[in-house]
Amino acid sequence: MLVLMVGLAVLAAPLVAGEEEIMKNLTTVTWAHAVNNKTYLEAVLASDISMLEADIVIGHVIGKDGPPIPIMAHPPATTSDISLGDFLTAVLQYNNGNPKQKGVKLDFKSIEAFEKSQEQIAQFSKPEVTFPLWLNADILPGPVNATTTPVDPLKFIALGAKHPRAVLSLGWTTNYGGNITLGEYSREQIGTMLRLVNERVNQTVTFPVRAGLASNSQPVLLDLLRETASLNSTITVWSSEGDAVEVDRLRALILTVGLEKTYLDIPHDLAAKLHLPSDTNLNY
Ligand SMILES: *[C@@H]1O[C@H](CO)[C@@H](O)[C@H](O)[C@H]1NC(C)=O
Ligand SMILES: *[C@@H]1O[C@H](CO)[C@@H](O)[C@H](O)[C@H]1NC(C)=O
Ligand SMILES: *[C@@H]1O[C@H](CO)[C@@H](O)[C@H](O)[C@H]1NC(C)=O
Ligand SMILES: *[C@@H]1O[C@H](CO)[C@@H](O)[C@H](O)[C@H]1NC(C)=O
Ligand SMILES: *[C@@H]1O[C@H](CO)[C@@H](O)[C@H](O)[C@H]1NC(C)=O
Ligand SMILES: *[C@@H]1O[C@H](CO)[C@@H](O)[C@H](O)[C@H]1NC(C)=O
Repeated sequence: MLVLMVGLAVLAAPLVAGEEEIMKNLTTVTWAHAVNNKTYLEAVLASDISMLEADIVIGHVIGKDGPPIPIMAHPPATTSDISLGDFLTAVLQYNNGNPKQKGVKLDFKSIEAFEKSQEQIAQFSKPEVTFPLWLNADILPGPVNATTTPVDPLKFIALGAKHPRAVLSLGWTTNYGGNITLGEYSREQIGTMLRLVNERVNQTVTFPVRAGLASNSQPVLLDLLRETASLNSTITVWSSEGDAVEVDRLRALILTVGLEKTYLDIPHDLAAKLHLPSDTNLNY
């Protein structure tokens, strides 16, 4: 009898592991971008998409007076037909009682926008609100010698810590695409992030990395993930339309890091070329 039970347990183990793997295939998460107006928000809420990426600036809702407030818009725009508060309320209402929760990734291009959004975010970062809430900013200068000014890293991390249930999405500015088709995240750029996170972050983190650059940076990204594993760290691979990307190298990165640690937010044509395995027990 004992022998039989042990035998069953051994048989059952791979099945259970297989199911968990499938549930944790983060590349199945789908993305909508620049969900910065009411019409698109409604369309995305009515769709199958699981994560809504949206941008926050300080400005005015069209037709409303008063002091500037956090609104959904991408710089240089300073007006929108929806405020951050109304955006988050609409997502909350959609998610209420819905078994398939949709999450939001809020992209802050300046520390001022993040500072002035604290009250609105706090209402949705309470433990009783459960939909995925990501707070994103590029906080360090990145490849290839990017010159865009990053969002103040210390302030962003400190304010992010006030929302412990939120995922901090911490990235580097990039200068890639067009005639820039070669580059990588340097050991120094990764090291600076690693020091910041290890010294100051105590919540779940994801690192957004640009596909064409990340695929040339596998060793340093593996180091980064290993040394932040206690924060359940992941990468979010993104790509702009038209970026040069070596598909084989990107595929190797994704499979080495693992589908359970890689969000994939890239154009459809690039995703289709990856041919990700549907069964991780197979050799590839
Ligand atoms: C709403 O947002 C979508 C996605 O960013 C955009 O394609 C569309 O033009 C916007 N519509 C309006 C009315 O601004
Ligand atoms: C980036 O800066 C480094 C150091 O200043 C320099 O060696 C390198 O050539 C630059 N790369 C590009 C693509 O401009
Ligand atoms: C790359 O493109 C930029 C802007 O289009 C241009 O200013 C620059 O001279 C180009 N660089 C090279 C090396 O072709
Ligand atoms: C980290 O966060 C956890 C859970 O929020 C908390 O219990 C713990 O005290 C925090 N640790 C530090 C060093 O702040
Ligand atoms: C990491 O995941 C474990 C298991 O789900 C959880 O208990 C822990 O709170 C998480 N820690 C962070 C920082 O996300
Ligand atoms: C993971 O998800 C991707 C995207 O939906 C799919 O192509 C792939 O087959 C899945 N792989 C596994 C092992 O679940």
